[in-house]
Amino acid sequence: MTKDRRGIETRLIHPLKRASAKFEAVSPPIHRASTVLFDTIDAVFDEQERDAHYRYATMGTPTTRELEARLCEIEGAVGVELAPSGLAALSLTYLAACKAGDHVLIPASAYSPNTRLGDFLKRFGIEVEAYDPLIGPDIELHFRPNTRLVWCESPGSISMEIQDVPAIIERAHRHGALVAVDNTYAAGLLFNPLDHGADFSVQALTKYQGGHGDVLMGAVATRDAARLAELRAAAEHLGSCVSSDDAALVLRGLRTLFLRLRHVERGALELATWLDQHEEVASVLHPALPACPGHDIWKRDFSGAAGIFSVIFKDWSRARVERFVDALELFKIGYSWGGPVSLVMAYRGLSRPSPEAGERLVRFSVGLEELDDLKADIVQAIAASSQP
Ligand SMILES: Cc1ncc(COP(=O)(O)O)c(C=O)c1O
Repeated sequence: MTKDRRGIETRLIHPLKRASAKFEAVSPPIHRASTVLFDTIDAVFDEQERDAHYRYATMGTPTTRELEARLCEIEGAVGVELAPSGLAALSLTYLAACKAGDHVLIPASAYSPNTRLGDFLKRFGIEVEAYDPLIGPDIELHFRPNTRLVWCESPGSISMEIQDVPAIIERAHRHGALVAVDNTYAAGLLFNPLDHGADFSVQALTKYQGGHGDVLMGAVATRDAARLAELRAAAEHLGSCVSSDDAALVLRGLRTLFLRLRHVERGALELATWLDQHEEVASVLHPALPACPGHDIWKRDFSGAAGIFSVIFKDWSRARVERFVDALELFKIGYSWGGPVSLVMAYRGLSRPSPEAGERLVRFSVGLEELDDLKADIVQAIAASSQP
């Protein structure tokens, strides 16, 4: 049967004519796919083609690979593996780096789902031990013959300790251990772990790269081809992948990343400095302020600050802390950061900087609203919280 005599149902699926694919627009195209087509059966089994071509959408589409390429540029990486969330990127790193019998070190200030993931890994024979984030070169004391991986997260995303990442990397490598840095705070821009020799730089692209609170994604970047192969294998076995639609949202976010980051850096620093002088505030944990643990290291290693910081209120009861958070109108109560909307969170049972101070700690994430409005919101919430 000739092609033009095929039935309409078939022709809707196999059209006689297609629109020209030659099209250049400002934004990269979104390639939605599961199946990827090959020209010949030889191409399917050609090992040489594996990397150069697309095989199945779990292993990448032009849109997801475009995003990987942009992230490689930012981090100076040889490769990036995308993951469906920041937490999934953390899991992928463990899976690529560790095996049963390994020992892993994680800062006590780490993003708590990463710590909980460490507990979960016990059942697979991986032991994860917490260390003092401010330990610096004394990390040495924690190494065992089977220490395989050391995590850093700087600053800690709630209690804001800035770690001596270069010293930890140096000691870890001397002991034959790998180092993975959760670099979400720095958005890949304010600090580059790979420049300091880290084996993995992990980010939740959900925050500043996505930038609008409407997409979840993570990434692991490396400069080592062998590490990249392990990451790719781990992702392939897990079936871990991201959609082209989500990748396109992150690609769009990247275009304004610098502008947004500069804006929130300025706003957060101004609010933090203002709150530091406030009579109701005991201390402000912002990397650019001297009271922040590790402030000197931040000055040495970072090119700027992001938009989150924490405040410890003076002798406030827990009830007052929660009344304050509830009274805020522009700062919305929610986890995460990096979107246009300012966010706030208070934590029950937080053990850092101490169990007592943790009860009076409130974390702010500055968004894109006008600063005077954010200040006025805090002023009215402090006043409202004074009445039980
Ligand atoms: C420091 C840090 N790392 C990783 C993540 C995980 O990111 P996601 O929310 O995309 O899973 C978060 C999320 O809040 C985070 O704060």
